[in-house]
Amino acid sequence: MSMENWTRVCVLDDIPRQGSRVLAREDGDIALFRTHDDQVFALLDRCPHKGGPLSQGMVHGRAVACPLHGWNIDLASGEALAPDAGCARRFAARLESGAVWLAL
Ligand code: FES
Repeated sequence: MSMENWTRVCVLDDIPRQGSRVLAREDGDIALFRTHDDQVFALLDRCPHKGGPLSQGMVHGRAVACPLHGWNIDLASGEALAPDAGCARRFAARLESGAVWLAL
C-alpha cells in the first residue's frame, strides 16, 4: 500500500492553460502542467534525456516537448514518445474544486 501524502499545491488558475508552473522542492523541482482541456499532470522537472527543464517546454495535447532537444514526453506516464525512450518521474495529480493536489 502506498504511503503517498496528498498535498494541496496551488489552484488551477495558477497554471497557464497549455503551460506549466514549477513547484520548487529540495529533492528536485516538480513541473505542473495544465492541458488545453484543463487536465493537470506533474512530472519531475528533468527530461529523461539530459535533464532539460520540462517546465519550459511546449505543451501539446497530452505531451510536452523538451526545450533542449525536442523529445516529447507523455504527461500522464512520463514516458518519452517513440522513437525516443526514457521516463521522467511522475507524480499523481488531481483537481478538486479548482485546487490542484499532488501525491508526494
Ligand atoms: S534534455 Fe530533453 S530532449 Fe535532450
